[in-house]
Amino acid sequence: MSQSIQAIIAERRSIKKFNGRSVSQSDIVEILDVASWAPNHGNREPWRFIVAAENGLDAIRNTMKECTIPNWGQLPEEEIEKKTAGFKLPGAFVFVVVPEDVRQKERLEDFSAASALIQNAQLLAWGKGIGTCWKTPAWMELPKFRQALDVKPGERILAMLQFGYYDELPKAKARTPIEQKITYFG
Ligand SMILES: Cc1cc2nc3c(=O)[nH]c(=O)nc-3n(C[C@H](O)[C@H](O)[C@H](O)COP(=O)(O)O)c2cc1C
Repeated sequence: MSQSIQAIIAERRSIKKFNGRSVSQSDIVEILDVASWAPNHGNREPWRFIVAAENGLDAIRNTMKECTIPNWGQLPEEEIEKKTAGFKLPGAFVFVVVPEDVRQKERLEDFSAASALIQNAQLLAWGKGIGTCWKTPAWMELPKFRQALDVKPGERILAMLQFGYYDELPKAKARTPIEQKITYFG
């Protein structure tokens, strides 16, 4: 990783238009391995991952199609194509699954720790020239989809993290000047 950490943080953009090139499973595993150095209270490591890359790509695309378009068998091919266009171009998918601790403090900590891991993963991918987008489509919560991924009761899918190569860099949406977000105490 030759860019500075400052540059990677500031220049990373969510990539919403991938070019269809697949991302190797070994790249994904390497990214998750380093990303797991995220801070996490009590070393609970409150995360697990469902990775769909390489051979898993077709399977996850079919699962997403079947779960998100209930009547897809009856629709014209054109319409299915339109509805599933978003599934085709990412080069790998990672579903980040967190436990839903019954204790509210621990639950918040665990979701926070997994979020730190996700951002680590996004930055590491960016450093390798791989774009990402953290997605939270409503259908991630569907029992049918959760079942297809073998997500257990008491677990939550925190993110569908898309990985992929891209041809165009999206423009950054301006951030609010930080002074407007700070209250100086004392
Ligand atoms: C918790 C979370 C959920 C998100 N869900 C979606 C989503 O469902 N669809 C989407 O297009 N982008 C999603 N994003 C990405 C944001 O749209 C993106 O981070 C934001 O536009 C800022 O752009 P940047 O990441 O390029 O700085 C999500 C980001 C976060 C942190």
